[in-house]
Parts: sequence; structure tokens; C-alpha cells
Amino acid sequence: MDTAMTQRKVVTIDGPAGAGKSTVARQLAHRLGWSFLDTGAMYRVVTLVALEAEADLENDHVLVEITDTIQPRFVDGHVFVGDRDVSAEIREPRVTRAARYAAGNPGVRERLVHWQRAAAEFHDLVTEGRDQGTIVFPDALVKFFLEASDEERAMRRFRELIAKGHDIEYEEILADQRRRDQEDRTRAIAPMLPAEDARFIDSTGKSLEEVLDEMTRVIHPLLTSITGE
Ligand code: DC
Repeated sequence: MDTAMTQRKVVTIDGPAGAGKSTVARQLAHRLGWSFLDTGAMYRVVTLVALEAEADLENDHVLVEITDTIQPRFVDGHVFVGDRDVSAEIREPRVTRAARYAAGNPGVRERLVHWQRAAAEFHDLVTEGRDQGTIVFPDALVKFFLEASDEERAMRRFRELIAKGHDIEYEEILADQRRRDQEDRTRAIAPMLPAEDARFIDSTGKSLEEVLDEMTRVIHPLLTSITGE
């Protein structure tokens, strides 16, 4: 398939949950003046709608049908289904736990990949997920794989959930995260993998600014060489 014809400039950021992909991608997009795509939110929104419909998540066909009926909108970091802002709901632990069904469903993935490529038709894009550099945008300008230690990632998630009022143990989050990492890595379809030409960045102990500076140092010379700016 030729995605290069219509595709604008794309920077991909893949990696495990909690490495800071979302914040980094949003801020990097802001620095570059590009759009930002949180592809995990797409799997989450399908999952939320399926949970609310009490659908059988293991039934591939049902999840695909749901994906075909919803037309979520992603606006300024918010996610809408119809007029309803579901940005908070899609982050709930019940959605996080159940998202693996949508993520492992080939029909759902095919449709979401289509949404993701469509987003790059008209805008330069910083996109984050698991398969952005490997499958969705193999011709991306730069592909990052953002990591952090298990403990730091779990601690970030713990603080986030506690701040939202959830009653949850750090150990539980760490164990849950390890299980989900393993599922993401070993999934039959689109497993979480660094692209062959990915640049690894470890955000453990680094500030957001440090990570952004590291990325910008890679991107700018490439941009200059293609735009001559
Ligand atoms: O990054 P996140 O935690 O919001 O991702 C939610 C779920 O979607 C998680 O199970 C991983 C999956 N996912 C995926 O399979 N491919 C992507 N490009 C993004 C997320």
C-alpha cells in the first residue's frame, strides 16, 4: 500500500503504558506546531462503548460492529462519542483492563489503522501507541520507542489514579502493568515492538523537558534537510 502519496510528516512514539508517551507526544506536537494523535484512546473508546452495551468482548464480530457504528471525535485532547465527552471514562481502570480485547481484534485494528492514517492525510502528526512506527506509519520521518523502568511507570500511574480519587495499591498497579506489557508484547497481531529503525529513549529519572529536548535534537536536523528551513 502506498501511504507516502498523501501522507504528511509524521513522528511516531511507541512504547509501553506509562512511559509518558501521551504527554510527550502532545507537547512535542505543540513545539512543532503539528497535530497529536493518542491511538490508545481509540482502543479505549471502542472498549468503553462495548462495556456500556454489555457486549461480549470476546466476540470479534460484535466489537467490529461497534467500531463501525461509533464515530468518535478527537478534539484538543478530548474524546467525544456523539456529543458526550468520554475523556475521563476511557481512562478508568475497568476500561484499561478490558482494552486488550479491542487491541487483539484484527477487524478493529484494521479500522483504527484506517482512522490513524486518515489523520495524517491533512496534518503533520505526532502519533503515539504500540504499532505506529512498525505498522501504521512505516515511512515516518522519525520513530521513537519511549521506555521507563517498570517501577517508575507504575508509580506515575499510581499517583494519577490516587489524584483522581481511586482506592488502589501500588503493588496491584505494578502487577497489572507487567501483565499488560506481556500481553502487548506477545499479542498475535500488531505486538508492541520497536521499529527496526526506532530511536530508543528512556525517560526514567528525566523531566518532560529533557525528553522533549532529546527528541527535538533528532527531529530538527531532519526537518531542516527536507524543508531547507
Ligand atoms: O496507551 P493506552 O494505555 O491508552 O492503550 C490502551 C490499549 O490499547 C492498550 O491495551 C494497548 C492498546 N493499544 C494498541 O494495541 N495499539 C496502539 N497503537 C495503541 C494502544
